Parts: sequence; C-alpha cells; structure tokens
Amino acid sequence: MRIRESLPSTSSLSWKKLQQDAEVLENTHLFQLFTEDPERFKALSLQAGPVLMDFSKQLIKIDTLDSLVALAEEKQLPRWIERLFAGEEVNDSERRAAQHWALRLPVNADGPHAPPELVQQVHQPLAKMRGLVELLRTGRWRGYSGQVITDVVNIGVGGSDLGPMMACRALEDAAACANADLAGSVPNVHFVSSMEGSQISRLLQRLRPEKTLFVIASKSFTTLDTLANVDTALAWLKNHHADEALVKRCHFIGVSTRADLMQAWGIVPEHQLEFWDWVGGRFSLWSTIGISLAVKIGFDAFEQFLAGAHCMDEHFRTAPLAQNLPVVNALIGVWNTNFLNINAHAILPYDGRLKHLPAYLEQLEMESNGKSVRRDGSWVSHRTCPIIWGEVGPNAQHAFYQLLHQGTERVTSDFVLVANRYREAHYASVADALQQQHRLGIANGLAQSQLLALGEQILPDAAQLPAHKRYQGNQPNTTFVLEELTPYSLGALLALYEHKVFVQSVIWEINPFDQWGVELGKKLAHSTHELIEQGAGADLSSLDASTAGLLTFMQGVQQ
Ligand code: F6P
Repeated sequence: MRIRESLPSTSSLSWKKLQQDAEVLENTHLFQLFTEDPERFKALSLQAGPVLMDFSKQLIKIDTLDSLVALAEEKQLPRWIERLFAGEEVNDSERRAAQHWALRLPVNADGPHAPPELVQQVHQPLAKMRGLVELLRTGRWRGYSGQVITDVVNIGVGGSDLGPMMACRALEDAAACANADLAGSVPNVHFVSSMEGSQISRLLQRLRPEKTLFVIASKSFTTLDTLANVDTALAWLKNHHADEALVKRCHFIGVSTRADLMQAWGIVPEHQLEFWDWVGGRFSLWSTIGISLAVKIGFDAFEQFLAGAHCMDEHFRTAPLAQNLPVVNALIGVWNTNFLNINAHAILPYDGRLKHLPAYLEQLEMESNGKSVRRDGSWVSHRTCPIIWGEVGPNAQHAFYQLLHQGTERVTSDFVLVANRYREAHYASVADALQQQHRLGIANGLAQSQLLALGEQILPDAAQLPAHKRYQGNQPNTTFVLEELTPYSLGALLALYEHKVFVQSVIWEINPFDQWGVELGKKLAHSTHELIEQGAGADLSSLDASTAGLLTFMQGVQQ
C-alpha cells in the first residue's frame, strides 16, 4: 500500500468510532444481519427520482450509517456541497470551479445557484448544437459533393469519448423510438479514440468520405491521441477531394474550450461548439461534448437526459445527508475502503445496453479520486479510490465471478438492474421471447448478489458440502434498480455517481477535479516518440536499460 503514514491523522472521534464499528462487523456475517432483522431492506434502501438503491447487502448496521454521517459532517460535507453549487473554486490546483451540474440547469431555472448569466451561458451553445443536430438528423447536411451525411464519427478520448459512447449504446432503444419517423435520415454514430489507429483504420474501410462527418471532441484541442486520429481522417478525405478548405467546412465540427485552436485548425465558426474550463473532461458529457449522443437520440431526448441528471442534482443539493442517495452511496464506499479494507470494486450491469458503463465509471472514479495528496499538499494517511472494473454481469459470471465467490480477495460490487425492457414497438415481433430473456437476466443478477452477500448459508445442507463447493459469501454489494433505461433515468444514475465521487473526495480531503498523474506520462511519450522517429541512429543513452533494450529490439525487427 503506497501510503506514507501508518496511522490515520484522521483519528477524529467519528473515525475512531467507525474503526470500532468495523472491528465488530468484520466478525459478523451478512447472513446473520439479515436473520436478525427481516426489515433490513426497508431500513437500508433509498429512492431518488428514477433510481432505487438497495444497500442492505452492505456489511453495516443501521447505526453505522449514523457514524458515517457524523464523519461527513465533521468533514463539513454540507459546506462543500454549498461550495460546489455556488460555483466556488473547488478545483483548487487549477483554480477553477466545477460546474458540470450547471450544464443540466433547465432554461427556466432560478434561485441563488442558477443566476441568469450562468443559465444563459449554458443554453447558448446548446441552442447552436441543437441547430447542427437537426441539420444532421433531417438529412440536410451535405458533404463536399452535395451528398447527405450518413455517418458521424466522434474523435475524442477519455471524457471526450467514453461518456457519449457509453450513452449512445445505453440509449439505443430511445434512439430507435425517436428516429422511427425520420425515414432513415439519421446518421450512424461511431467512436474513435485510440491513438494507435486500430479503430479509425477499420472504420475508414467501410465509410464513404463524401458522406462522413467528423466531430473533433477535445476539451483542450491539444490531445495527441485525438489529433493523430484527426490527421488520418483529414488525409483520407483529402485523398478523395483536394480542396482542403471545403473538406474542413463540410466534414468537421469542433467541440472544445479552445475556440482559438479550433479556428487555427480550420473549423469554421458556425461549426465550433464551445464549453468552458469549469467543466472537467470526465464530467463533460452534458456539454456540447454530448453532440454525438444528441445526433443519435435527438435533441429532445438529450434534454430528457439533462433533466434526469438535474433531478439527481436537486436531490443531492437539498436532501438530508442520511437520506441523500449519492452521499450514502459514497459513505458506504468510504466504509468499505477505509474501515473494512476492501480495495476492489466491480460494476456489474445486468443489461447489455450498459456495456460501457464500467469503462465510463473507471475514468470517472479513478481519474478523479486516484490521488494520494490532500488539498493542503500533505500525503494522505488513508486509502482513497479502490480499483474499479466491471463487465456486463451475465458475461462476467462466466469470467471473473469465480474469484468473487471463492477467491481470497474481498470485493464489493454495484449491481445495476433495469426492471422493464423490450416494450418498444421495434421488438414487437419477438417481445415475449426477449422479455423472457430479460427476466432470466434479472433472476441471475438477484441470485448473484444474494449469493455474494449471504454465501452458502442460504442452502439447507451447506455443512455437508466438500470444501471446494463451499461459498463464504460476505462480499458486500449494492443493487441499483431503474424502472426503465431511458435518457432521464440514465442521466440520474450518472449524476448519482458524479456526486458520489465528489462526496468521497471531501472525506478523503483530495481534489477530484484535476488529473496531474496523467501528465508526465504524456511528456515522456513525446520524447520517446522523437527517439523512435530518429530511427536506428537515435542516442538512447538517456533511457533506462529496459526501455532502451525494448526499443533496440523493435528497431531490429522493423528493419
Ligand atoms: O487522460 C487525461 C485527459 O485529460 C482526461 O481527463 C480527458 O478526458 C482526456 O484526457 C481527453 O482530453 P481532451 O478532451 O482535452 O482531449
């Protein structure tokens, strides 16, 4: 464990109380807690807007929650929530506010956290985006040869890719409904992120340049990964049509905080969509970075998505801590990490449309809270963000669940279930069979979360089982249920996780809105790239033996 001090400086009263609670609970089994209190679900589940959260399978007693709330109060969480919504500089290392929540303010919002200038600032580029989205969705955007655009390719990485990509996949049904009467004019949406070209190379083989539009999505407009893919896209277009200015005008939209760089690259002003420094990359899905999603599902549905997130913002801003879903979710994470010492957390959606949710949350949580220095510059004395990974649950059952059930590692999990599915008209011909499959998925999600928590004790004859067939259980987990997966409910669920990240950062005293840890790697890659381009004659003496050895080997086989 890479922690510089051995004892928590956080040895406050509430921290100590929680340590004592943990000593007792570490020797308690969830099966026992459920046996003692059949009303556990009622006491330990919460609903906010379209999201139900059942945390009764967490290894807590009802009064553990009181101690966790006391810790949050001691860390001045209510004041931090106020600071977030007042637009104060909560991102202190970059001297910026973090106002992703403002992107979800409705146009008629009022109150002290929604000053008219802010609401107007947010809605202006959204209105511009709506215009571009409508041109594309109604087949009125033409490429260099006058052909209708049939394919939109989002080029971005990290927050400029994962959010729109995850949501496009999650909202395929919403898209099919919204697009039903648009006579096939809605473009297909694709995503390209990886700098080494595997995605764009495959995509360009099947797209037609005169019918393809690229969205350059980059907050900084300097990210090498994105610019490398953009260079390839431009070269492809220019191979088919030599007039670069025309190609840039007809085939590129830019989304960035850097209008100057978009302009310098050649994005025409009408196709530049701006957002602001106070939106962190991994929180930017709600801004004009969401254009690919809006193309896919339509602008009205995109507004529903924002409305769902706003509903969770309001809940987070106003609900008492003990009934506040993002707060409670975050505090349970703190409990598991800092008091039960569980450092791995799986995201397990039981709905294939949420395939990319784990990757999205990996960035959201680990890039935000994967830190070991407090806001005041001192090293933390406690663990921060656990390792997060995941997969669509039914597939993961056949991959890594073995470790969850019988391995030596303690792991917590979030199950995500959707109650209703396959009710849309486009499934009508096979609705019964698909709904049957959906119920099978739900049954498996419920069974796995039960078995992980309660273990073999749910079986009458557990004691007779041979050792290799035994299940210890006591792997804490939370289940989120959405009535349906819609733009609104997805928006609410994602906002819940965003606020969870913020609450945990407050408890851990770290800044969740910067990411200095990824910067040095980028610089090193730059100088290494220069050496690679110099070829066999490059002076590798400044490199460590491993890097020099690997490079020399590759140069040898490349010749
Ligand atoms: O990985 C670092 C990072 O800065 C992320 O935070 C961000 O989402 C991603 O790179 C892409 O950055 P940009 O949108 O500026 O291209």
